[in-house]
Amino acid sequence: MYRAEEPHTINRGVGRHKDGGAVTVLAQDDVGGLEVRRKSDGEWILVIPTPDAFIINVGDIIQDRIGVSYSKIKNQEIIEAAMGEVDPAFIQEPEHRPRLAIIEADGIPLIDLTAISSSGSADRERIEKLVREVGGACSEWGFFQVVNHGVPAETRGKLELAARRFFAQDLEEKRKVRRSMECTLGYFDTELTKNVRDWKEVFDVAVSEPTLVPVSSDPEDDRVAEWFNRWPEYPPELREACEEYGREVEKLAFKLMELIALSLGLPAERFNSCFKHHQTSLLRLNHYPPCPSPHLALGVGRHKDGGAVTVLAQDDVGGLEVRRKSDGEWILVKPTPDAFIINVGDIIQVWSNDKYESVEHRVMVNSERDRFSIPFFLNPAHYTVVKPVDELINEKNRPKFKPYGWGKFMTHRRNSNFKKQNDENIQTYHFRVEDFHPRTRAQAQADGSIPLIDLSPVSSTDYSISDRPDPRAIEGLVREIGSACSEWGFFQVKNHGVPSERRRKLESAARKLFALPLEEKRKVIRNEESLFGYFDGECGDRS
Ligand code: OGA
Ligand code: NI
Repeated sequence: MYRAEEPHTINRGVGRHKDGGAVTVLAQDDVGGLEVRRKSDGEWILVIPTPDAFIINVGDIIQDRIGVSYSKIKNQEIIEAAMGEVDPAFIQEPEHRPRLAIIEADGIPLIDLTAISSSGSADRERIEKLVREVGGACSEWGFFQVVNHGVPAETRGKLELAARRFFAQDLEEKRKVRRSMECTLGYFDTELTKNVRDWKEVFDVAVSEPTLVPVSSDPEDDRVAEWFNRWPEYPPELREACEEYGREVEKLAFKLMELIALSLGLPAERFNSCFKHHQTSLLRLNHYPPCPSPHLALGVGRHKDGGAVTVLAQDDVGGLEVRRKSDGEWILVKPTPDAFIINVGDIIQVWSNDKYESVEHRVMVNSERDRFSIPFFLNPAHYTVVKPVDELINEKNRPKFKPYGWGKFMTHRRNSNFKKQNDENIQTYHFRVEDFHPRTRAQAQADGSIPLIDLSPVSSTDYSISDRPDPRAIEGLVREIGSACSEWGFFQVKNHGVPSERRRKLESAARKLFALPLEEKRKVIRNEESLFGYFDGECGDRS
């Protein structure tokens, strides 16, 4: 039983999980609340209650409902088996572990920026073509690579070398410039993504100095702190290398913002004012050391970048994976020498009112080679209020997000990446306008929720279908079920042959059982010997 809760909480009756068994047959009442992760795009879709139907899901392929604590117990064994190698703090839940046999699809678009990086008069047609390319990549992938971007290879090479030298030092040396709770610039080796430790160490540098950021994420607290960079003694050239590289990628990031603005039908400079004064952009040096258990841990757990745009330099080792929007598959981004990887962050998703989506990505590690990467996160001033841009909003395209303050958002994120929290990491979907999250029934219906399959061809008496009379009806049904399993992993069935009075009897008995005083229910509480019976302490607290 799920109790009525305060509105606006992000708790679910049962946390995200998959069922471990073969098939689950679920009877839900008319209240609704079961959400299924749609495979095509990773969205949570509400399963609309259909009177008298059962919901079927294919165990271990799917998400949601039942059995959280049992799968936790199983995970625990795996964790213990691996303990000798990797600290459990790094271990991802099974569904988030990397698959080491990777799909190397054609991958994300490669865009040539010659049209805007060459000096001289820009050719209008070429720019228009480029704008279309960028717009297409943003809406189809949220990720693309750029070449002929104007950042000198030498500038990048210098910083890459300095970063290697810095990370090659003893931990003790690096920790001298360790970041603190108050100022997160500097060295850090225990970052969490969604409460699991990342297999990496980082060095963060602010682009403008000092960088102004809210002291806390508390909306009542309007104190602002000044951050200054912390520079290590060694290597001495690190500072200059960061500053020079920072200036160059910043230029590139601004050009990209202009192309993105144009692709949305806005003036090129539409967003410039947000970054002009007090931008909170960051340059990050990442080092992913070899990992003894690359199948259990991740260099960076799946996440979306919270800012406007990210410009990433990756080395030739590879490991960055992007969630393909068309089918939710993790696609490896093959390293292209001298290219930058660009991705749309949450802010552009909100500004564009979902036209462009910030796409999930993560980093795999390997057991042999160190990997280095350098993301530049283009972030606006802390006082920027992020909301869908007015010019794009009209009767047909209503704002899908409530305005939120960038500074508070960033501070909240930063705190949870620093320290394990009990609540969920802040995400932009928390600012979605009510109508959009969770989806209303009408929307879910319009969207096409999980398939509803009519079992009448097989529903009379016995459960074996091999001797049913109408092979064609059965073939059709088999196809329907097959595609429901592969597309959704979830479906509903009607005309299933389970007498409705039996179901109602059990439902009403269940209501009576849960209405009993706790003391009565605990008389049949489950225990060590038997997992059957009453239980009210189940936890699905993974964020
Ligand atoms: C990040 C990130 C990717 C990489 O730091 O946000 O996604 O390849 N890094 O290091
Ligand atoms: Ni990222």
